Amino acid sequence: MELFYNIVHIIHLFSAMLFLGWGFAKLFVLSAAKNNIDANAHFEMKKSLAKRVWKIYPTNFFILIITGSILFFKYANFENGLFPTTFQTLLIIKAVLALGIGAKVLYSVSGRILFKIQHSQDPNPVETSAYKYIFSIAVIIVLLAKLMFMVR
Ligand code: HEM
Repeated sequence: MELFYNIVHIIHLFSAMLFLGWGFAKLFVLSAAKNNIDANAHFEMKKSLAKRVWKIYPTNFFILIITGSILFFKYANFENGLFPTTFQTLLIIKAVLALGIGAKVLYSVSGRILFKIQHSQDPNPVETSAYKYIFSIAVIIVLLAKLMFMVR
């Protein structure tokens, strides 16, 4: 069973890397191109990137939630209430924040599938304007993932 959790843990880490990596690239790297290429070329670039992102981002986030949930039930114990230890309190805060991002991703992706035409100016699965919030929350989630073991 320990081997199973170790494998799930590694998948969770890779998935978190991918998730944060795309957020970082979008916010801090690709944004630099906006001022250096003309608006049409920029839009075409966004469109072709979005095609690839649609194939990876929602599935990757789903894997992040599933692996996180498996790990969650390895540690969580509700025999002495919801928040018996600081570790479990931080773990629950981490999970709730991540599920909050999950709800936003689900909302955006389903909205985009149902109302494609309204979003033709921003072809990403999750609208660009939401990235700074999602990325900031994800950074807090990573810090909580480390902090919860430090205060254990
Ligand atoms: C945006 C979503 C998420 C990100 C970026 C993320 C990131 C991380 C990171 C970086 C670790 C560090 C592990 C280490 O240092 O080895 C971790 C561990 C963990 N995460 Fe997540 N996570 C996310 C979602 C979730 C969700 C939804 C849950 C639970 C429902 C969860 C539960 C856990 C647990 C239990 C661990 C501890 C694993 C262990 O050390 O055995 N995570 N996460």
